[in-house]
Amino acid sequence: MTLGIEVERLEKHYGDHRAVDGVDLQVPVGTVLGLLGPNGAGKTTTVRMLATLIPPTGGRARVCGFDVATQPRQVRELIGLTGQYAAVDKDISGRDNLYLIARLLDLPKKRAWARVEELLERFDLVAAGGKLVREYSGGMRRRLDLAASLIGNPRVIYLDEPTTGLDPRSRNGLWDVVRDLVAEGSTVLLTTQYMEEAEALADSVVVMDNGVVIASGTPAELRARVGGQTLRVKPVREQDLTAVVNALATVRLTGHVDHEAGLVQLPISGPDDLTDAVRAISGSGLAVSAIDTSTPSLDEVFLTLTGKQRDVVELQR
Ligand SMILES: Nc1ncnc2c1ncn2[C@@H]1O[C@H](COP(=O)(O)OP(=O)(O)OP(=O)(O)O)[C@@H](O)[C@H]1O
Ligand SMILES: [Mg+2]
Repeated sequence: MTLGIEVERLEKHYGDHRAVDGVDLQVPVGTVLGLLGPNGAGKTTTVRMLATLIPPTGGRARVCGFDVATQPRQVRELIGLTGQYAAVDKDISGRDNLYLIARLLDLPKKRAWARVEELLERFDLVAAGGKLVREYSGGMRRRLDLAASLIGNPRVIYLDEPTTGLDPRSRNGLWDVVRDLVAEGSTVLLTTQYMEEAEALADSVVVMDNGVVIASGTPAELRARVGGQTLRVKPVREQDLTAVVNALATVRLTGHVDHEAGLVQLPISGPDDLTDAVRAISGSGLAVSAIDTSTPSLDEVFLTLTGKQRDVVELQR
């Protein structure tokens, strides 16, 4: 397994404050790592160290084998960064912004213009390309920012909360672009506050809080860790609710009556429980109008892991 990003015991201290306090990450080439965490968790600080923008206080980080502390020049040639706050110049057009960056990266004029047009097209900015960036919407600016980070064809891409504040359509468009990049072999580190974004894009997820990693795994593994499923059984006749509970008891499952919803619910820990429950209900001969299972929502997963609400972010949306 070739690693695009390899981080060991990475630390960043600001005085007494440990913004990042011993983080380990491994991102295989051609995959997406979702770095999740509430405000102040240390996500941006981690990305900035990996982008050679700030030096680590301790630990080690390598990008395609190059050390961020001792080989920053090689690292910079490999990476593209889309920051949490747009880094483009508002007083010139989107097209000129991209061209300027292409020239800064030493592309000859003709190749620079070709690359700019290609990226404007990819990000649906051809029509807006001539407008001043200060006239762009937030979503357009984000797309321009991402386009700007891709000019040099980076092999490793950092996206720091790329979709915060975007409407669902722009967000989906950006997800498609990320998927294309990964299909082309890029390695992506994506920070986000949204579990659903991690689930849509990430091969694996690391959850940070207070500078440390508190959970990691695939999105499905994180869901499973937080809790099993809930089974809900709705009898046709309300007076059968107790009979449903009794039927479940015959296979040692404990159902709880929800009178308001007219159903019985119970936690189940796997396919065995589910099979037993269905068999007990059908064996009882009770008429049932609905049986379904639900997994914990991704918000519940996030909340359980970090113990924090996402209200601050929700308000910004
Ligand atoms: N230059 C700095 N000087 C002092 N403290 C800093 C500095 N940069 C970041 N911090 C602190 O480090 C911690 C982590 O900040 P960071 O920006 O990495 O969080 P984050 O996970 O990106 O949060 P958000 O979701 O709000 O973007 C915070 O407590 C922050 O106040
Ligand atoms: Mg941040």
